[in-house]
Amino acid sequence: MAKVWSKRFDNALNPFIEKFNASIGFDRKLILEDLECSIAHAKMLGKTQVLSSSETLQIIDGLKKIKEEYLEGKFLPSPPSEDIHYCIEEKLISLIGETGKKLHTGRSRNDQVGTDIRLWLRKEIDNVEILITDLQKSFLNLAKSNIYTLIPGYTHMQRAQPLSLAHHFLAYLEMFQRDRERFKEVRSRVNTSPLGAAALAGTKIKIDRKFTAQELGFEKIYKNSIDAVSDRDFCIEFVSASALLMSHLSKISEEIILWVTDEFSFAKLTDKCATGSSLMPQKKNPDVPELIRGKTGRVYGHLQALLTMVKGLPLAYNKDFQEDKEPLFDTAETISSCVKAMTILINEGLELNIDKLSDSVENDFSNATDLADYLVDKQVPFRTAYQVVGEIVKYCLERKMLFKSLKIDDFKKFHPKFDEDVFSNLEPINVVKSRISEGGTGFQQVEKEINNWQKKLLF
Ligand code: ARG
Repeated sequence: MAKVWSKRFDNALNPFIEKFNASIGFDRKLILEDLECSIAHAKMLGKTQVLSSSETLQIIDGLKKIKEEYLEGKFLPSPPSEDIHYCIEEKLISLIGETGKKLHTGRSRNDQVGTDIRLWLRKEIDNVEILITDLQKSFLNLAKSNIYTLIPGYTHMQRAQPLSLAHHFLAYLEMFQRDRERFKEVRSRVNTSPLGAAALAGTKIKIDRKFTAQELGFEKIYKNSIDAVSDRDFCIEFVSASALLMSHLSKISEEIILWVTDEFSFAKLTDKCATGSSLMPQKKNPDVPELIRGKTGRVYGHLQALLTMVKGLPLAYNKDFQEDKEPLFDTAETISSCVKAMTILINEGLELNIDKLSDSVENDFSNATDLADYLVDKQVPFRTAYQVVGEIVKYCLERKMLFKSLKIDDFKKFHPKFDEDVFSNLEPINVVKSRISEGGTGFQQVEKEINNWQKKLLF
């Protein structure tokens, strides 16, 4: 097939370079958006009377026919077309003849590709927003049934203080909420139309940018034609928001992987979400969270690739931009599959070992802060109380004892303000209950937060 520019050249492209230059292998993913963009452009050219109404109709019918054929599987964009934009133009000309050659009036592939990506990304963001909300609902359900389940809280991966397990899950709801907010902000910048910027300078053809923007559902248009075709910030912002989302998914994945070890035994994987080993018959592997943790790396990689792609690029369109698509496509696919897989894992993949969880907060020193706060309540300065408890911990460790196995007289040897009520203060359930500060793990706080989430997500 002759290139559209062949008249200006004497020789054909080297076949290897032709393939090297082409993006049809991956940008065919944008076919529906490219058609949508072209239909809006053609309508606009009709409205401004650049095209006659019969030409406009012919072009729009041709484009609709292409869509139909594509959806019926009768048309697959492929080489030798260089990219999806040429491919559709060529197909249109083959369908409707000479009039098809008028479609590209007053536009360039530069503003066209920018428009296509934005249309595609906007849909992806809407989809991911729904998926993250579903994931939040799963976490909320798990939280609702585990308000009074206790779990050791860790800092530095060392036992710190007991927590309501619901509080632990609610922390993830917060993270995913920030992810949603970030995607929403990115969406508003994605939702800006570059169409009509043409190659970089605008055009002398009578176009109406606001009309095409409105047709395509864009909130606004780029104010500067050079910026319009040079901007890939929105791609980077999307991948950056995705990278943070993956970091959150990777965090919960890591926790699940730890929880299902024999050493932790806080949970078991159900058969629906676990795999066996080819060699070791006893094994049940957490492949799902491991894959999610592993896939985080590729999204971080895409972010790096895009940041590097734009670094030092002069204005306006440069072919480097063709490299924006694969990282973007793969990021969107990766995050949506990871969010879906995590939702399934949370809904039906985990069996919490409640006995082990409650047992584990009984037999440690994670109530040490509460022992100190007990003295603080009795007017002992915190630093003094903290040091007294430090001595008690050491005393217990040397004797392989826990606080609860001490007698009241033992306590009194360390500080006279200790009384019988110290024992109930040390019980994990009371320890958790007492964390009444706003945002703390106290049951009342947790219940309040669950109600708030319930309103936010379910109504
Ligand atoms: N395939 C190109 C891309 O994905 C389309 C834009 C080409 N523009 C150009 N001036 N060569 O970026």
